[in-house]
Amino acid sequence: MILITGCAGFIGYHLSSFYLKKGFKVMGLDNLNDYYDINFKRKRLSILKKFKNFIFFKTDLRNKHSLKKLKKHKKKIKYVIHLAGQAGVRYSFINPISYVENNITAYINLLEFFKNEKSLVSILYASSSSIYGENLQEQNTPISVYAVSKKTLEEISKVYCEIYKMKFVGMRFFTVYGPNGRPDMSVYKFFDRILSNKKIYVYNNGNHYRSFTYITDIIYNIDKVLKFTNKTVKIKDCKVFNIGNPKSIYLKNLIKLIKKILNKKIKITYLGKQKGDVYKTKATNVNESRLMGFKYKVDLENGLIKFYEWFKNEK
Ligand SMILES: NC(=O)c1ccc[n+]([C@@H]2O[C@H](COP(=O)([O-])OP(=O)(O)OC[C@H]3O[C@@H](n4cnc5c(N)ncnc54)[C@H](O)[C@@H]3O)[C@@H](O)[C@H]2O)c1
Repeated sequence: MILITGCAGFIGYHLSSFYLKKGFKVMGLDNLNDYYDINFKRKRLSILKKFKNFIFFKTDLRNKHSLKKLKKHKKKIKYVIHLAGQAGVRYSFINPISYVENNITAYINLLEFFKNEKSLVSILYASSSSIYGENLQEQNTPISVYAVSKKTLEEISKVYCEIYKMKFVGMRFFTVYGPNGRPDMSVYKFFDRILSNKKIYVYNNGNHYRSFTYITDIIYNIDKVLKFTNKTVKIKDCKVFNIGNPKSIYLKNLIKLIKKILNKKIKITYLGKQKGDVYKTKATNVNESRLMGFKYKVDLENGLIKFYEWFKNEK
């Protein structure tokens, strides 16, 4: 059985569906918080609940006692894919404590629950491209509490790997978009506002670059990581991989593509660079592709078209 934390979230929902359709038993866990409209989460969860091989526990990882209800299933769990957490760079300047509680405390509670559990093969957890800060190379310098919280997950994993001989892979995701996407992210907000004839706000005067990554590419590569941890005989291991489209896109080009797809005039207000925003993210994938065969099959234009198809039906 696979435990997927944050199963009602954007990536968690897609990953759960993927494994459920393949016939795996999936245990989903989420506290269904209201960081964004909870109806998105309810809707995703109602789809997952239709699968017979899915069981859901409403659990808040901030509270270690909340995990007790999973105890009788613990021995059946072979993999944990930890996606629950407080996302969003900007919100970390409004509510930084949420990142300590939902990312750091929550992760320690999860690891305390699973340490010394022999039936567990590996723990995969969500890190983020944000940990690089303005530096695209290895010497990362986080510039937000969000980034620090994700970097902390990577450090905590090293400790549990060393002390409890556990196997970890951290996954640094790069700007994920697609159907059922988060309403606080740029692709969703741009489509939503343009189609309602509202103006869009574009940060850093549109001069950002981002490795926009389509959701099915994220899921495909997470599955590669899971298989990789199953193949390696070594128990103790602690790796971190980038999962992000190597093509970094200029923000103004993203807007041009949306304009082409919607065939609509766009009203834009350009704003300055926001706190915590980095100028460029670009996923390097050389080691990942060689080691695990990561692939990125959906280019930005096709990804946006697929997103729009979904969005039209939702509204
Ligand atoms: N979407 C992206 O572009 C992106 C990029 C980099 C990293 N990430 C990371 O990937 C993970 C998944 O991202 P997402 O876009 O699906 O976000 P999301 O907010 O849609 O999903 C996170 C889920 O975790 C749940 N959750 C939060 N705190 C919890 C707690 N204490 N206990 C139980 N459940 C809790 C939320 O209710 C939510 O459903 C997050 O950790 C995020 O930081 C996402």
